[in-house]
Amino acid sequence: MADDALDGLLAEQIAYYRARAGEYDATYPVDAAARAQLLTALEAHAPFGRTLELACGTGQWTGELARHASALTAVDAAPEALAICRRRPGTDRVDFVEADLFEWRPPERYDFVFFSGWLSHVPPQRFDAFWALVADCLAPGGRVFVIDELPAVADVERAAPGEPAPSVRREVSGGQAFRAVKVLYAPDELRAHLAALDWQADVATVGWRFFFATLRRADGSLAVRLRPVEDGDLDAFFEHQADPVAAAMAVMPVRERDQFDAHWAKIRADDDVIQRTILAGGVVAGGISSWHDGERRLVGYQLGREQWGRGVATRALQQFVDEVPERPLYAHVATSNAGSIRVLQKCGFRRDLAEEAQAPEPEDGVEELIFVLAE
Ligand SMILES: C[S@@+](CC[C@H](N)C(=O)[O-])C[C@H]1O[C@@H](n2cnc3c(N)ncnc32)[C@H](O)[C@@H]1O
Repeated sequence: MADDALDGLLAEQIAYYRARAGEYDATYPVDAAARAQLLTALEAHAPFGRTLELACGTGQWTGELARHASALTAVDAAPEALAICRRRPGTDRVDFVEADLFEWRPPERYDFVFFSGWLSHVPPQRFDAFWALVADCLAPGGRVFVIDELPAVADVERAAPGEPAPSVRREVSGGQAFRAVKVLYAPDELRAHLAALDWQADVATVGWRFFFATLRRADGSLAVRLRPVEDGDLDAFFEHQADPVAAAMAVMPVRERDQFDAHWAKIRADDDVIQRTILAGGVVAGGISSWHDGERRLVGYQLGREQWGRGVATRALQQFVDEVPERPLYAHVATSNAGSIRVLQKCGFRRDLAEEAQAPEPEDGVEELIFVLAE
């Protein structure tokens, strides 16, 4: 229900920008002095290389980006705004994509990602997922440049109370009114939110109204996120479990394809099983699941070998145990699997010696340790 209300609000936000497209440039709030400062800051980051602009709109910044980029992709949900952007000088080589940014996935990686006037339209409920998308868009060492408005703008907006996300009421000429999400961050607050998501952000203000932020991944590591399993993930999962080195490490049997498909058909039909695909840098890195064995809820994961030793399993398990509320959670791990033992420990799991003492002799002869996450 809450999701439906939010989806409705986000659809209205797109409708607003579609209706406003023709008058957008005449009502753009960035004055010449602010624009000059923002442009200087932006140009300090050139050359941009392969560049992505999110929510490009009518192209207030697209021409500038196109001048510096080796290639530019510009995404927006409003076809009317994109049509105006296409007509701007210097945008003839831009690859325009009409898409909803809450659904769009990047087909490639970019050296530079830019968005202006967009972050404040991302509802708090979608903030983490949006930044995971940005991370997925970035090539290693890539940088992000953000322009948006400061909290003082609330004084010149008309708040729309009672919406599923902080919102304002806007009108287009002719009087049609729309709701749009508007979340205004103070620089410190934004820095702190982004630091929690492993982004290092420098934020500077321009006048009373604007800020710009330059960002890069804090640790230079791959962004890891989880999402529900999709049919297309199974080929990668099959390869991961069929890898003899991985199977030996986890001391797990390798399934033939028909057995594997039957196993997955069974667990995907079982409502008790919680499964997620692990994405590392936007690529299917493995799977993580939780299921009941009698009274106990267990967790387990499998990663492609190319992802080992990069902190992917630890970050995936941390996110997964945040998502699965039930406690205690148990994990069985072969005594010889030192990597997974470390991952469990880093995520707060501890050996459960009492459980181990009660465990029956292993039928397959594989010595296992039992770990538990109590709370
Ligand atoms: C404030 S405008 C910013 C446009 C441009 N970046 C600028 O600085 O002028 C916000 C833009 O977000 C786009 N937009 C709104 N919702 C969107 C969505 N779900 N997916 C993609 N674009 C969206 C609108 O069409 C609009 O062009």
